[in-house]
Amino acid sequence: MSSNDSTGKTLLVATLLCIVCSIVVSTAAVALKGQQVQNKLQDKNRNILAAANMLEPGKSVQEIFKNRLEVKLVNLDTGEYLTPEKATEQWQQEALQNPVAYDQRKAAKTPEKNEVLSGKEDIANIKRQAKYATVYLAKDEQGKVETIILPVHGYGLWSTLYGFLALETDTTTVVGLGFYEHAETPGLGGEVDNPNWKALWPGKKVYDEDGDVSIRLVKGSVDPSTPNAEHKVDALGGATLTSNGVQNLLHFWLGENGFGPYLEKVREQGV
Ligand SMILES: Cc1cc2nc3c(=O)[nH]c(=O)nc-3n(C[C@H](O)[C@H](O)[C@H](O)COP(=O)(O)O)c2cc1C
Repeated sequence: MSSNDSTGKTLLVATLLCIVCSIVVSTAAVALKGQQVQNKLQDKNRNILAAANMLEPGKSVQEIFKNRLEVKLVNLDTGEYLTPEKATEQWQQEALQNPVAYDQRKAAKTPEKNEVLSGKEDIANIKRQAKYATVYLAKDEQGKVETIILPVHGYGLWSTLYGFLALETDTTTVVGLGFYEHAETPGLGGEVDNPNWKALWPGKKVYDEDGDVSIRLVKGSVDPSTPNAEHKVDALGGATLTSNGVQNLLHFWLGENGFGPYLEKVREQGV
């Protein structure tokens, strides 16, 4: 046996190789962290525009976002926008300066910025929610608000689904629904991302004439000639549990503990 085949040398080479590889991997992870955060934000912004059907070929997400969207913060209890007069705390003033940077998901985990939901209230199974939520107002070429885009989230079968619901300014007619993050099973609950399923949503009505949340996901395919078809969407095939999660999260965010008070104000006073 030559000296290079000794157990000691084999272990030394293996150890050195491990150290070199771990340095390469960790350096890459640290160096690319900023890019990853940027890509994630870009993907979220793309989803906001996709929900409102605002993506345009040849135009960047950033450009459309900057030219057509106004970002505001809403007090979920009162349904009122956060304004300079109402911003009594330092973080609120900072959030007003740059509402795009307000992190609603982080706020939901921060005691002074969140509210813990009781079991009865928590139909979306999210445990706690931020006191202030972001809303995105999409404007037409003349600067008139035509779509309200709301961040929504709730538990499916395996994961919390995070997405956006876009509504017309009547606060009832759906422009689009899409999720940018979840861990449901591909081919089952993961079909929330299927463009064919997403295409079922535009035109559906989320509230009935009495102002109650009426949108439901039903097994099978909805016959447009049946009564209340505008309040029903096909559930995902073989994925009733994820579908129930989607229905629950919509009921939560459109209800009194979500954007209900805000949307009521929009109906009374405009956007
Ligand atoms: C490995 C595995 C993954 C599954 N993933 C999902 C899922 O992501 N969403 C879901 O609703 N159901 C999922 N299911 C099926 C559920 O257990 C349940 O059977 C289904 O939601 C019932 O829907 P159905 O009444 O339309 O058949 C999965 C089942 C298995 C075995």
